[in-house]
Order: sequence, then structure tokens, then C-alpha cells
Amino acid sequence: MDKVLELEKLKQEMADNNNLPLASNLVFGEGNPDCEALFIGEAPGLVEDEQKRPFVGRSGQLLRKSIRELSWKEEDVYITNIVKRRPPENRDPLPEEIEMYKPYLARQIKIINPKVIVPLGRFSMNYFLPNAKITRDQGKLFKTGSWFVAPMFHPAAALRAPTIMQEFQNNFKNLPLMIKKINEIGSINN
Ligand code: URA
Repeated sequence: MDKVLELEKLKQEMADNNNLPLASNLVFGEGNPDCEALFIGEAPGLVEDEQKRPFVGRSGQLLRKSIRELSWKEEDVYITNIVKRRPPENRDPLPEEIEMYKPYLARQIKIINPKVIVPLGRFSMNYFLPNAKITRDQGKLFKTGSWFVAPMFHPAAALRAPTIMQEFQNNFKNLPLMIKKINEIGSINN
């Protein structure tokens, strides 16, 4: 089946599942299902809930600007979250909420099959790398199961602290090089 159709089907399945926690709007994700880079945040905030789009608030502006500064188009990547509804008062997602949303993220990733997954912040990083520490491991490239994973600081953290902003920007600039490296590894293995 076509990827767009498969994602539509998955989105509908989520919308129909009354057992999923959190009562706000479903923010499924958006972008090109044939992308090389898949960005995964934590959970939607207020603006994301209102617009039903991921990363469209303040931290989203930083993420989207950083993508454009690579001379990539926002429409060429895919952007989503691990938890796809807004937790009240923008609190951190609870472990049981992450558990309930995780199977959908796993299926979404499998459909998209990106070259590199970029978890933004510790919640989505720990989904792939349970023992990783964001301050130690952001900016590095990992292989876990079938996926190459390059965790980065969450843009909201970058907006809070100039030193984190510096790291975030430096590591973000490295993404095209990481993809080149992944392609080289792929051609050696084939
Ligand atoms: N923070 C996130 O983690 N995701 C969003 O979509 C917006 C803000």
C-alpha cells in the first residue's frame, strides 16, 4: 500500500481508539513520508493542539528555521511526536502515556522508513536508547535495531540556555554529513 494511505489509516485508527490517554486534539505528524530525516519530539503544546500540527509554536519555529538553514525544505522532512496529544498545562508526558502511544510511533516509523531518526530531547531519545543521557549523547550517531538515531537537544531547551543553543545549532549543521555517512555504511553493506 502507498505510504500516504498507510499513514492515513494509522491516523484514523488512533482517532478511533478511545482508550488512548489525553483528551486534546490528535497531532499525528506531517511531512514527506519518503523523507531521509524523521524528527520526533515529546508531545504537542498549546499552539500545536490548536493547529493540529507538530512543532508550530516557539520551539517549532526554531526547529523549522534550523531545517531551512540546511537548505532543506520543511516539506521534505517528517515531523512528529512520541505522544500525540497535549498533556495538560504542558507537563511532561507520563510513562504510562508514553507506553500507550509508543506502538503507534513504532508503526509510523516503520511506514516512513527514514534514513535517520532525530529524537528531540530525552523522552523520544530514551524510546530508542533507554540508557542514553541527552547532555552526553546528543550530537552522536547511534545504530539501534534497524534505525540510525541522532539525538539532539529539544529546541525548547536551546531557547532556554545559550550554551545549549550553541550545541543544538552545531549538531544540527552536522545532519547532512551524518546522512552521507549512513549512505556510505549502506553501500559497504550492500
Ligand atoms: N514540543 C514538542 O516536543 N513537540 C511539539 O510538537 C511542540 C513542542
